[in-house]
Amino acid sequence: MRIFKDEEKLSLEYVPPVLPHREGELRLLNAFFSSILKGKQSISVRVIISGSAGTGKTAMAKLFGKQMEAEAKGRRMNLRYIHINCRVNRTLFTILKRVVEHLRIPLPSRGYSTEELMHGLLDYLTENELYVIMALDDVEVLIKEEGSDPFYFLMKVGEEREDKMSRLSFIFIVRNPEILSMLEGGTRIGMLNNIVHLPEYDTNQLYNILSYRASEAFFDNVVLEESISLIADLASERGDARYAIETLWRGGKYAEAEESSVVTPEHVRKAAASIYPAIKKENLAYLSLHEKLILLAITRALASNENAYTTSSELNEVYRLVCEEYRVQPKAYTRFWEYLQKLEDQGIIRIRVSSEGVRGRRSYITLPEIPISILQRELVRLLEGGSSEF
Ligand SMILES: Nc1ncnc2c1ncn2[C@@H]1O[C@H](COP(=O)(O)OP(=O)(O)OP(=O)(O)O)[C@@H](O)[C@H]1O
Ligand SMILES: [Mg+2]
Repeated sequence: MRIFKDEEKLSLEYVPPVLPHREGELRLLNAFFSSILKGKQSISVRVIISGSAGTGKTAMAKLFGKQMEAEAKGRRMNLRYIHINCRVNRTLFTILKRVVEHLRIPLPSRGYSTEELMHGLLDYLTENELYVIMALDDVEVLIKEEGSDPFYFLMKVGEEREDKMSRLSFIFIVRNPEILSMLEGGTRIGMLNNIVHLPEYDTNQLYNILSYRASEAFFDNVVLEESISLIADLASERGDARYAIETLWRGGKYAEAEESSVVTPEHVRKAAASIYPAIKKENLAYLSLHEKLILLAITRALASNENAYTTSSELNEVYRLVCEEYRVQPKAYTRFWEYLQKLEDQGIIRIRVSSEGVRGRRSYITLPEIPISILQRELVRLLEGGSSEF
């Protein structure tokens, strides 16, 4: 049973042809660079892309680069986008060397200084009527290595050779833009006005992104809608699309390993647990009796219907059955609710309150990062081992 149509589509290197929920930001980025395409470019453009982990900075920059190159080609302009990761190329010198190599500029790679490389590059661009957009990704690493120097250098070259520098533009990609504003010369190279900030994704946005990425990577109807909702919900705490996509891919691998034809919420839970194991077996022993009973009830409620969520009233019924089974007097509803919140505080469960009007407001309970099967086995073992009442 094949479930993956094209697994590569979930790999980290792959850049999707569209980025749902980044249309506005992409337009803004284009607007900053539109003067280049109009051929009236007389200054070097500098733009910052900021946003926390997994908000699509790298993906958006690369997609922009592709679109920009295509657009320029249509206008018979010579433009190249070069994406450089500062984790790999940690100094301005190695970055410039990469650019020179990429463009196959015939400069000796040895015995050259940063200045000479830069001037050689600018001369080449002018002679060949070429525009280059350099994207420096994870620029915090460059700042850590060389501080303000690279920016000061760019500013100086920009001032000295204004005419030629206009052929070379920059995108600086950074999680926290404050880092750049603290730099000496940072403001003077005139990049701080042009910021494209990517806010964290919310649950709905993650849901749409996941549906789209799942449709590229899996055959139709393989990933259950419930599973996509669950991943979106788990990832929404971070607003992180990378975590979401990685969980989707791993969920697929678990389904594949079990020869399942669908990716279920349980596969998702296993995947999530394998990425960030949230709860350890040994911590379960420290839960109070009723916390254990409630947790066991949650695993049963979730396992019985393959649901990603159970409601608090449904759960209370299952809890009362579990108490009966273990010959324990069930706690009143308010106490039960207190225990639920304690479990949430410990990060073991998650409670979501839906916002469908005040009346229709219901609580949904889910186990974010723990496979039910493992948890259930462990709880039964602990409960049967006869733990003391707290
Ligand atoms: N709007 C979107 N639609 C589809 N996929 C997206 C979207 N945003 C991000 N992704 C995907 O999520 C993953 C993470 O995105 P990306 O690598 O661009 O994050 P980032 O902001 O660069 O994070 P970091 O700061 O950790 O480098 C990538 O696989 C990317 O393709
Ligand atoms: Mg990135």
